[in-house]
Amino acid sequence: MIRIGVLASGGGTNLQAIIDACERGDIDGSVVIVISDKADAYSLVRARKRGIEAVSIPPEGTGREEHEKLVDATLQKARVDLVVLAGYMRILTPWFINRYLGRMMNIHPALLPSFGGKGMYGEHVHRAVIEYGCKLSGCTVHFVVPEVDGGPIIIQESVPVLEEDTPDSLASRIHPLEHKLYPKAIALFASGKLKIEGRRVRIID
Ligand code: GAR
Repeated sequence: MIRIGVLASGGGTNLQAIIDACERGDIDGSVVIVISDKADAYSLVRARKRGIEAVSIPPEGTGREEHEKLVDATLQKARVDLVVLAGYMRILTPWFINRYLGRMMNIHPALLPSFGGKGMYGEHVHRAVIEYGCKLSGCTVHFVVPEVDGGPIIIQESVPVLEEDTPDSLASRIHPLEHKLYPKAIALFASGKLKIEGRRVRIID
């Protein structure tokens, strides 16, 4: 049974999918703490509704490193085995990332390595995909390394981009896919089936 800590800035639909998967027993683990940088994030409400500790750590008034130290201390106190970034809209420093190397995941709403990196989050990603004229998009779950969105890929899946798509309509086709893929990746991690070999992640059967 692994202990999962989730960092989320927004509505937390991915968080919800992960909590539900844990409760169903699809993941051999449980979400023990949810941390948000936004005091009014709905993610915190979702956690509390399920009796999960929910902490807001706003960055305002602290330096970046000081803020991360607080987040780190909170995760340590909760004794997490895995950190899951679920719509966490802050770029983490190498100091923080290196503390959780191989045990921190992120979900990105596009097919990496395309449309990733700084500034590529949420709606910006879908807009860029449509403007580029891509015929396919999707989502990617990957381990987090200091290079933004550059970590070893665990799983990804695609959806078609339609002629009439807007960033919103594309996002609403990708979101359900995220809710399926993220719990799946976490379940594989929890059962010890992920092996990182350089850039590649092997899924052991
Ligand atoms: C998700 O679509 C996730 O892929 C994206 O934020 C959304 C959060 O939704 N993450 C990024 O863009 C990271 N670069 P949620 O709060 O409903 O889970």
